[in-house]
Amino acid sequence: MTEWIEKIEKADSPAKIEEIRVGVFGKKGVLAKAFSEMKNAANEDKAKIAKELNEQKAKLNTLLNEKKIILETAALQEAMKAEGIDVSLFAPRSEAGGTHPVMDTMDRVIEYFSNLNFSVETGPMVEDDFHNFEALNLPKYHPARDMQDTFYFKDEALLRTHTSPVQIRTMLNTKPPIRMIAPGSVFRRDFDITHTPMFHQIEGLLVDDKGKVSFANLKFILEGFLHHMFGDVEVRFRPSFFPFTEPSAEVDISCIFCKGEGCRICSKTGWLEVLGCGIVDPNVFDAVGYKDVSGYAFGLGIERFAMLIHQIPDLRSLFEGDMRLLEQF
Ligand code: PHE
Repeated sequence: MTEWIEKIEKADSPAKIEEIRVGVFGKKGVLAKAFSEMKNAANEDKAKIAKELNEQKAKLNTLLNEKKIILETAALQEAMKAEGIDVSLFAPRSEAGGTHPVMDTMDRVIEYFSNLNFSVETGPMVEDDFHNFEALNLPKYHPARDMQDTFYFKDEALLRTHTSPVQIRTMLNTKPPIRMIAPGSVFRRDFDITHTPMFHQIEGLLVDDKGKVSFANLKFILEGFLHHMFGDVEVRFRPSFFPFTEPSAEVDISCIFCKGEGCRICSKTGWLEVLGCGIVDPNVFDAVGYKDVSGYAFGLGIERFAMLIHQIPDLRSLFEGDMRLLEQF
């Protein structure tokens, strides 16, 4: 008995305790043995021996349980010390992804027009002559096709040169009234400091009953939009030409770099051209079979906006994937 009490006291792990428990209480343990040896004792002693054995059994059980708890608590404390996290330690900063400046600018434009209930429409990048040109009042051999240096595949297929074909597709798929924007990539054979063969545009189109849509509506919506994108700038509309709008205008903002005084970026004019727009030409409505409607349309290049907002001098750098540039956004 004292031998086992000593063993319990010396035990230094929960596993050791279990070992002792088997030695004492197991089928072949000392208690089983002692109880079985009782049969050899004199009859009058048996009750006394049994009582003593039962007392020892209870005592050993209590000691084992108590020691087990002590050892387990110590082991837990030890483990917590080893695995604990030191929240005051410096951690290396993990790399965070970011939105590409072009997509970020696109999101800002979409956000503005979504809030005005314009739906967001999409169309294919590989287009046909009808949607990209013909229906937009650009018949074959029309000189205005030269404005857009087109990538052609075989058989009439081409890479869309602007997002305007999405106007046509949307009008063919739905009935007026329409209030839509179409963001997406477009393609032109052009490559220099302000042009890349692939870039992004956002198209806008609003169509309603005849007489309901005016140039004043267009001015209002675009002025609000440009103030949203560039803050407190002056906006001016300059007469221009697009085959699919009549009258047409190009829209300038006062130079955000020199505040209109004239600098290198605005070529000393004090103005920056930012988008094209106009009243939808009746020929376009004819091409999609719309009658007794009026509308306005506008289109803008996202990269141009991103370059101005972030003061990026070379457009091509936006598509080189250089982390030193992209990490700045
Ligand atoms: N599609 C024209 C372009 O790519 C932009 C535009 C769209 C102009 C709609 C007027 C109306 O230059």
